[in-house]
Amino acid sequence: MALLIKNGEVITAESRSFADVYCEGETITAVGTNLSAPEGTEVIDATGKYVFPGFIDPHVHIHLPFMGTFAKDTHTTASIAALHGGTTTYIEMCCPSRADDAMEGYQLWKGKAKGNSACDYSFHMSVSKFDSTTEQQLREIVKDGIRSFKVFLAYKDFFGVYDDELYETLKLAKELDVVVTAHCENADIIAQLQQKLIAEGKTGPGWHEPSRPARVEAEGTHHFASFLEMTGATGYVVHLSCQAALEAAVAAKARGVKIHVESVIPHLIFDKSFAERDNFEGAKWVMSPPLRDKENQKILWDGLGQGLVDTIATDHCPFDLEQKEMGRGDFTKIPNGIPGIEDRVNMLYTYGVSRGNLDIHRFVDSASTRAAQLFGLTSKGRIAVGADADLVVYDPNYRGIISASSHHVNNDYSGFEGFEIDGKPSVVTVRGQVAIRDGEFVGDTSRGKLVRRS
Ligand code: URP
Ligand code: ZN
Ligand code: ZN
Repeated sequence: MALLIKNGEVITAESRSFADVYCEGETITAVGTNLSAPEGTEVIDATGKYVFPGFIDPHVHIHLPFMGTFAKDTHTTASIAALHGGTTTYIEMCCPSRADDAMEGYQLWKGKAKGNSACDYSFHMSVSKFDSTTEQQLREIVKDGIRSFKVFLAYKDFFGVYDDELYETLKLAKELDVVVTAHCENADIIAQLQQKLIAEGKTGPGWHEPSRPARVEAEGTHHFASFLEMTGATGYVVHLSCQAALEAAVAAKARGVKIHVESVIPHLIFDKSFAERDNFEGAKWVMSPPLRDKENQKILWDGLGQGLVDTIATDHCPFDLEQKEMGRGDFTKIPNGIPGIEDRVNMLYTYGVSRGNLDIHRFVDSASTRAAQLFGLTSKGRIAVGADADLVVYDPNYRGIISASSHHVNNDYSGFEGFEIDGKPSVVTVRGQVAIRDGEFVGDTSRGKLVRRS
């Protein structure tokens, strides 16, 4: 069926204008003023609202065996939550561990998503070891349209790679023209600091940050950048959280290293005092890299405005309160992760655009367009003839409060509990089909497809 979104203000990464958007089937086929539509067209009145391209979250965890447990979402719950928040495509980290076969892992992750997602998705393929079998498998996986890898410099002997493997992975990535995303923290320093703090009886969630200080992340970022420089591969630092790491990335870029930077919404919104809350409440905000002090948050917001930070993702990773309890008495055992897939766009809009900290075009760029460009999602992230009809009709006059009692993520707490939002999606479409209408999910939980990237 055809769809016409009328009278909205169309806002992209580059421009804004009052225009109608007409979609036939899955595709945008006209953008202009006073468009008329044939009988039978579904017409949505967007008067007083913005029309954004569907948002893209380039870093989520849905199926995730990690720290002795599993993250809580399924593709069904995560995609419905994503759509409520205006995200129409996400890229999941496909994370087999070092003990697993990479191809079996890829098939497992693909199987979990297939037929179960209401929005489109792709994967970053983790390389947790590198040998000749893995290399052959990675070549096959890239041929299947997965044009990005993931490496962890942290989590040694589980997800983490050794330096020789990192080098081989980057050489392969360069040959195949694949982007390598990286979690950049020095695993050995973390292990030493964790041991020391626990031995001193410093066991609560507030000690998570001192066990992985900014310099440890800066070292990881510099380390990754050096390997990129030596191999000529293109890299993307995930969840960069602090000034020291940003300086390492910016310095590398200045000497010609092809390196891009992602920050995530928890690092923009929460400072480390959240993880220091009493009675183990701080465990809700334990993630890695950890939440930092306020000065670092200002650096991230400024870096985002200047484009030094390319994208804003979530690192969505829901562990419930019972799972977080696994680390009571030993912060190193608290499952790392904060959910955010539903809240990223509203939080970035509210505390960025609405409160005067972020230009609206940079908002669209960092939450949608830039990720599409970096990761080869060529039909996504824009409002133009020929693009996928993934659209968000956004109500900037909505006022509300985030709460776990009304969210759709499969988790019993929200890190954003009690935060105000100054806007939210009223209509969201996935390739021309309405999935959210008046804030309610009306979509199809098997519509989402694996986007094969070029
Ligand atoms: O704390 C985090 N970030 N959990 C998910 C795994 C990862 O490092 O991305
Ligand atoms: Zn990570
Ligand atoms: Zn992650």
